[in-house]
Formats: sequence, structure tokens, C-alpha cells
Amino acid sequence: MTHPIPQPRRIPFFGNITSIDRTAPTKSLLLLAQRYGEIYRLDLLGRQLVVVSSCDLLNELCDDKRFPKLVSGAVKEISALVHDGLFTADTGNKNWAIAHRLLMPIFGTGAIRDMFPAMEDIVSQLVTKWERFGPDHVIDPGKDYTKLTLDAIALASMSYRMNSFYTEDMVPFVAALTGALLECQLRATRPRIATAMMTGTQAQFEGDIKLMIDTALALVRKRRENPTDPDGPKDLLDRMLTVVDTKTGEKMSDESIVDNLITFLIAGHETTAAMLTFLTYELLKHPNVLLKLRAEIDDVLGDQPIAMNDISKMPYTVAVLREILRFHPPAAARFVHSLEPTTIGKGKYALTPDDHILINSISTNRDPAVWGDDADEFKPERMLDGGFEKVPPNSWQPFGFGLRACIGRAFAIQEAHMAVATIFQRFDLVMDDPSYQLREKQTVTLKPDGFYIRAYPRNRKA
Ligand code: HEM
Repeated sequence: MTHPIPQPRRIPFFGNITSIDRTAPTKSLLLLAQRYGEIYRLDLLGRQLVVVSSCDLLNELCDDKRFPKLVSGAVKEISALVHDGLFTADTGNKNWAIAHRLLMPIFGTGAIRDMFPAMEDIVSQLVTKWERFGPDHVIDPGKDYTKLTLDAIALASMSYRMNSFYTEDMVPFVAALTGALLECQLRATRPRIATAMMTGTQAQFEGDIKLMIDTALALVRKRRENPTDPDGPKDLLDRMLTVVDTKTGEKMSDESIVDNLITFLIAGHETTAAMLTFLTYELLKHPNVLLKLRAEIDDVLGDQPIAMNDISKMPYTVAVLREILRFHPPAAARFVHSLEPTTIGKGKYALTPDDHILINSISTNRDPAVWGDDADEFKPERMLDGGFEKVPPNSWQPFGFGLRACIGRAFAIQEAHMAVATIFQRFDLVMDDPSYQLREKQTVTLKPDGFYIRAYPRNRKA
């Protein structure tokens, strides 16, 4: 027999909209989970949202034939910008299928190794900036990590230099991207009628989209006219222009290439920047972890720059990266749906095809049934000595699941590994305000708010 799914009291017409803080929706979902448990229902102006917060139920939802990805919330709004690019298309979409088949190998671990020099180039720009400004300069790490991740993905994907470290203001492409993403987030929780009436906001949104598409399209056309030396190094754009889908015999259209280039920029920068910012905060709050990380970095790298082969020699750094993605998953919500009426929880909870099922990985990643009584602690040791391999299937999934899992996972991990190793090899970081306690802000991803640091170049001989 099924049980009713718990639901907060509804207000006529508005339903449960007042249960969600629009500026921090993920935080609201976490608080509701603490009150209503592993599953609860929200009525958001008629849209039925079912929020799942336990690893047990998540594991059941990890069957993409029964529960395919649902393009919903802010992700649906982003499709105004990148149409049927990889992130925003429905799984059955033809362009998604072609791009998925063609791009998966391009983002494989081997291909990502070729992007090491592009990452190295941009990490060295960040290090130079911090060294030149010196310890009197207050650093907004979220801002500099965003420059790092955006410039690295732009350079690796299309050999395009954003040059964000050479200007204090945002370059026009980045300003357009940031503005459009913020508007997508707001649209996801704003009644459609209100958006339709905000003509100035709409014009700005359309202008931002046009600027990004025009810039990317110009790059694609220029490359078509001036192809890269076939024997020289290739970026993602070269590969997208030339590779042929063996199933359909088709190449990617210019429009699909543009949609996916902008998709990589969107999906690849905020997430990795948030990961690095949370990591910096937690390392400064946990000197014992920092000490062990430092010991490994010094032991493996000495005073040499990190090389590709060093990565596999640094298990503690890998554990730290895995733990930060558990503790602070930057992309904390993803949506699936059922194509027919069904039940989950061993027949306990009934779901309909109209339900938007939201997996809240902030809650699942801290489920004590899987992660233990210390789930609320940042503790990389849990990922060592087979600990990571031992967790039940599908419990750790900061990169999503199955067919629709993150294509940039290897890219993000390699980039974060290299950045963390280089930064903590070269600097002693301190919090600008030692009493700072974590506050979070949400755009499409979650990130620390009001967190500032100073960077002292390290004197390892002292
Ligand atoms: C999909 C997380 C970095 C490109 C996803 C999904 C998650 C995720 C959770 C699944 C979304 C869903 O099911 O709706 C992350 C995190 C990152 C990261 C936490 C960094 C720490 C990147 C990077 C790139 C990228 C660097 C590009 C280079 C994509 C794309 C998809 C995706 C294209 C859609 C794949 C598809 O549906 O076919 N990511 N991501 N991500 N990510 Fe990432």
C-alpha cells in the first residue's frame, strides 16, 4: 500500500511557493528535508515537485530507462541560450545524441591530458597575479577561481583567450554570460507573467544571448576558413568541426557547435570555481587536513611545477577533491521524471509522469545511513584506503548519473587537482577575517559568500 508523500501546508493559488527562499532555494530544500524526511512534495504554482533526500531512494532513481533526465528549473531556462546543447536537450533529441556520441571520446581521460598545457597556462596567470599583488592585497577567491576556470575552458575548447586576469572589470562575453545565467535562475522561480512584463530585463537577456552566440559563431566561421595545421595540436573546436558520427554519417552543424561551446563555458566554469572556493575555505578551517595535503604536495612536487604524471602519485589530494564534492556539491540539484505512473521506496510512494523529481544531493551526500554519524564533517580520510570504493552504489554522484552524467568530469578533476597542488605549493593562504563562518549564495550553483583571503608567497626553506 502506498503512503502519502509529506507536504507542507499549501496557500490557495500559491501552493508551497512561500516555502522556498528564491535567493537560496537549495538551503530551503535542505531545511524542508530536515522537517519532512527523505521525500516530500511541493506545489509550486501548480508544478508538482517531489524532492528526494536519501541515498536509498536516489539509488532507485538511478535507472535512466525508468527515470530519464527532466530538463526543468534553471536548466530549462538556460535552453533559451544554448537550445539543444548537451546540458539542456532532452535525452531523445537528435542533436543531443549526435553530440553525445561525438563528444564523449573527446572528453575522455586521454584527450583531457592534451589539455594540460592550456590549464597550466591559466593557473600560472593566477599564481603570477597573487605573487605580484603580495600579501597586503585582499583576494576574492571565488572571483579569481571563476576567471581561472572560465579562461581555462575557453582556451582548451576553442583556443580563445578571455584574458580575464588582465582586467578588473568583466570582459563583455563574461558579463553577458553572468547576467544571462542570473536571469535564468530568477526566471525559474518567477511567475511567467511577471517575466513577460519586465521588458527591460527581457531586452537585456536577449542582448546578452546575442552577444555570446555572435562571438562563438564568428570563432567557428573563422576556424572553418583557417583550419588548424592537421599535424599540430588540436582543440575541442577542431575536433567538433571534423569528426563524423559513424551512426548517421553526419557532422555537427555550426549551430550545434556554438550551442555546445557555450554549454561548456556555462557548465564548466561556475561549478569548478565553486569547488575550488569551498575547498580553500575548508582547508583553512581544517589545518590538520592542509598539513597532510601540503606534505604530499611537497613530497611529490618539491619545488617543481606539477606535471601530468604527478597526479597519479597524489592519493591524499584525490581524497580531498572527492570529499569536497561530497561535502559541498556545486551542482546540488538535478531533475528526473517517470514516463508512467510508478512507485518508489519498495512500493511506498506513488509518482505520476507530471511529478518533477528533484534529487537534492546536499542531503543525499550527508545521509548518515551511508556516510555515518560524522557525515556533517569535512573528513577526506573517509575516501582513503578503499573507503570511496566501499560506499553503496550511486551514493556519491556530484557529476550526475548515467547517460546524462557530466561530460566534463575528467576535465574538472584534472584542472582542480593542478590548481590546488600549485596554489598550496606556492602560497600560505590566510582568511582575511579569521572569524569568518561560511555563508553561501546561490546562482545556478552554490558558492561561499563574503569569503576573502590573503596569499603569502611561501618560503619553504624557512
Ligand atoms: C552535466 C556537475 C564540470 C560539462 C553535469 C551534471 C552534473 C554536473 C551534476 C548532470 C546534470 C543533470 O543531470 O541535469 C559538474 C560539476 C563540475 C562540472 C560538479 C565541476 C566540479 C564540468 C565541466 C564541463 C562540464 C568542466 C565542460 C567542460 C557538462 C555537460 C553536461 C554536464 C556538457 C551535460 C551532459 C549531458 O547531459 O549530455 N555536470 N560538472 N561540466 N556537465 Fe558538468
